[in-house]
Amino acid sequence: MSNDPAAVPSGTLVGKVVVVTGGNSGIGAAIVRAAAAEGASVVIDYVTHADDTTDLVAEVEAAGGRAVGVQADVSKVADLQTMIATAVETYGRLDVLVNNAGIETRTALLDTSEDDFDEVVAVNLKSAFFGTKLAAQQFVAQGGGGLVLNISSVHEDWPMPGNIAYCVSKGGIRMLTRTAGVELGEHGIRVVNIAPGAVSTPINTSTENDPAKKAKLDAAIPLGRMAQASEIADVVVFLASGKAGYMTATTVVVDGGIMQGSVGL
Ligand SMILES: NC(=O)c1ccc[n+]([C@@H]2O[C@H](COP(=O)([O-])OP(=O)(O)OC[C@H]3O[C@@H](n4cnc5c(N)ncnc54)[C@H](O)[C@@H]3O)[C@@H](O)[C@H]2O)c1
Repeated sequence: MSNDPAAVPSGTLVGKVVVVTGGNSGIGAAIVRAAAAEGASVVIDYVTHADDTTDLVAEVEAAGGRAVGVQADVSKVADLQTMIATAVETYGRLDVLVNNAGIETRTALLDTSEDDFDEVVAVNLKSAFFGTKLAAQQFVAQGGGGLVLNISSVHEDWPMPGNIAYCVSKGGIRMLTRTAGVELGEHGIRVVNIAPGAVSTPINTSTENDPAKKAKLDAAIPLGRMAQASEIADVVVFLASGKAGYMTATTVVVDGGIMQGSVGL
C-alpha cells in the first residue's frame, strides 16, 4: 500500500499475500495488476527481463499497491524455496501461489528432442508440482488453509498436434490439481486450475503477427476473438476471493467456448 499510514486499503484481496510465477509478462503481469488493485501484497517471480519487473513494481506502487520482485527459475526447487521465502520474509505469510510460468516448443512428437521435453516439463509441470508442495508446507505451518492456482490451458485436456510436450505438461497439471486438491483438503488448502483458451500475450506473438493465422483462430472461437490477459486475471481474483471457498481439485475453463465449438482448427 502507499506510504500514507492513514490510507485504508480496500478490495477483495486485502490482507492476502499472492505469489505469481512468471509475473512480469502476459497473463502473469495481468494477474499481478489485478491482485494488487484488489489490495493483495504481491510477489512477482521472474527469470528474465528484470527491467520489466522493476517497471511493474513501480506501476503497482504508483497505483497505491504493494509488490516486490524476486528472481527465481521455477524449474529449480531451490529457486522455488527462495521465492516462497521472499513472500514470508517480506510480507509475513503466504495466501495464494499462482503457478503461471510456462513455455512451449511448438514441436511435434517426431521433432521433439530430449532437451525440449525436459525443459518444457520442468518449467511447466515440475515447477507447479514442487511449488504446490512448498506452498502447502507453508500453509500448514502458518495454519488457516491457502490456495494454489495453476494456469494450465485448454490443452490440459485437448490435444494440440505440433505442441505435444506442452500438452503433456498441461495434462500433468490437470492431474496434479485433482490429486493435490484431494490430498490437501483436510488442511483447508484449495488447488484449482484455470484453463485459458487463446490469450493475446507474447507467447502468441507469431500467430497475432500473421493476419491469416489470426483470422482463422478468431473464426474458430465462438466469441470471435482471443482473450485479453486481464480476462484471465479477473477469474484469478474471483477464485482467490472469499466467494470461491468451496472450489477445489477442479478446472475453470476460460476459453470463449473454443473447446465446445471450434471450427477449422
Ligand atoms: N497466451 C495463451 O494463449 C495461453 C493459453 C493457455 C495457457 N497459457 C498459459 O499461461 C501462462 C502464461 O503465459 P503467457 O501467455 O502470459 O506467456 P508469456 O510468455 O508472456 O509469459 C510466460 C512467463 O513465464 C516466464 N518463465 C518462463 N520460464 C520461466 C522459468 N524457468 N522460471 C520463471 N519464469 C519463467 C516468462 O519469463 C514469462 O514471464 C503459461 O503457463 C501458458 O502456458 C497461455
